[in-house]
Amino acid sequence: MQTSVAAHHSSLVEKDDRALASIFAAYTVTATVWLLFATGVGILLAYKFGAPDFGPGAWLTFGRLRPIHTNATFYGWASIALVGMAYYVADRSSRISLYSVKLAWIGLVLFNVAALAGTVALDLGYNDGNLEYREWPWPIRLVFLAALVVTAWNLIGTVARRSTDGIYLSNWYTIGGVLWTCIIAVVAILPWYQYGLGQVSVSGYYMHNAVGMWFTPLALGIFYYALPRLLSRPIYSYALGVLAFWTNLVFYPIIGAHHFLFSPLPWWLQTTAIVFSVAMLVPVWGGSANFLLTMRGRVRDLAHSYPLMFILVGVIGYLVGSTQGTFEAFRSLQEVWHLTNFTVGHSHLTMYGFVTFAIWGGVYALLPLATGKESGRLGLMLHFWMAVVGSFIYVISLSIGGTIQGLDWKNGLPFIQSVVDMQAYYVWRGVGGSLMFLSHIVFAWNVWRMTYGRAAQAAPIDTLPAVEAAA
Ligand code: HEM
Ligand code: HEM
Repeated sequence: MQTSVAAHHSSLVEKDDRALASIFAAYTVTATVWLLFATGVGILLAYKFGAPDFGPGAWLTFGRLRPIHTNATFYGWASIALVGMAYYVADRSSRISLYSVKLAWIGLVLFNVAALAGTVALDLGYNDGNLEYREWPWPIRLVFLAALVVTAWNLIGTVARRSTDGIYLSNWYTIGGVLWTCIIAVVAILPWYQYGLGQVSVSGYYMHNAVGMWFTPLALGIFYYALPRLLSRPIYSYALGVLAFWTNLVFYPIIGAHHFLFSPLPWWLQTTAIVFSVAMLVPVWGGSANFLLTMRGRVRDLAHSYPLMFILVGVIGYLVGSTQGTFEAFRSLQEVWHLTNFTVGHSHLTMYGFVTFAIWGGVYALLPLATGKESGRLGLMLHFWMAVVGSFIYVISLSIGGTIQGLDWKNGLPFIQSVVDMQAYYVWRGVGGSLMFLSHIVFAWNVWRMTYGRAAQAAPIDTLPAVEAAA
């Protein structure tokens, strides 16, 4: 009797594991398709700076393609990939099966329907205006909101039924991020905030919280799970992780006005945003120190593990990009950098150098554990080096070019002079962008191998990182 109960239990566990692996793989695969599409559009945009008339018809104009690129990278690529991983981490770290497999699939369909409908609408010229990262017509944003609510419900349901004592750190970050984003998405849709100065204020609030309270906590959640997993050692300090979580939650929501310095927004609101942009150094440095100290003394492991290298670049991207953001918020530096390509460099240092590398590190570390299939070392190497070198060229060229552009404006030179001065830097951005795009093709191949390829000889077994020891 006992044997049959044990057999029944193990077959249930196997079934749950298979369902989880399929969900994780499906989120990763669809996200990868969005990455290829969105960054293909990014390349086209980059070359349009040299050949603005390239591409016939209204549907290939810069004005339509730019929001397609930003929304598809945000909501197609990064959001879907991060949610797929959040499910995996919630399930494994809570040592329980997912609250609802069906809800996870429904969420995936809703995310993809929203991204597809949003892309088509933007290309047909239906755009909700000049509000960055929320250009999709509002009914489509409601579909995205529905996907968020489903995800929040499912993640909370899973963690609430955990068989471990505490809530693992990663889940604080992911659940906090999803709940906060539901609030942001609702605020961004309320009609009475959509005009006048209120609109400007809400726009800053939305823009910055989309990156700071959605992508940032979900990406940090991956670090907290994947790092101990890869290094087989607990995270350096659980307490520091909790401190970074709460300070992030308190400081981030009030810094959105730094996007609109020198605007008619109240001066005190702008100053508050600057002060808290400096306060952000607490969670950023605290969190980064926690990750780097977890890796201390393990240089050999780093050199032998591409997943770890991706994560290391992600941590450096977070530390450097966010610290750069604090400096960008000072009025004296905004005078030079605002509206220049320097900001585009910052966007890619953070959304690419931090968030996208974090996702890649997480996918390479965790997807093989779920599917039992691995990608080859050559594929990992090509992906890593092309992405690192490409994004380095991208960010450095725009940072230098953007600074020259800003100084030209500040010195009162004719506008066309700043365009001429940027020319070489645009070409370099195109070169860096092309390398990045090539690396995405290799990534897609690696994902294919990790999902549909041959099973690895000895499939690794996933266990909870030994984090409680440091709690
Ligand atoms: C935590 C510290 C950070 C601070 C203080 C900060 C500060 C800033 C500032 C001042 C700007 C406006 C630049 C301008 O308009 O001239 C900006 C833009 C931006 N930041 Fe950050 N940043 C931080 C972290 C991040 C992170 C972690 C991400 C991504 C995950 C990010 C993504 C962006 C993006 C996408 C923009 C462009 C927004 C636009 O389209 O105007 N930032 N940031
Ligand atoms: C092959 C890789 C990529 C290329 C070539 C590329 C290219 C571009 C170009 C040309 C722009 C328009 C800049 C402008 O208006 O002056 C842009 C904007 C932007 N891209 Fe990308 N991109 C790539 C990857 C990504 C990824 C993966 C993400 C996010 C995960 C991303 C997020 C953004 C954001 C947030 C902006 C708006 C920047 C701002 O307003 O400051 N990009 N990109």
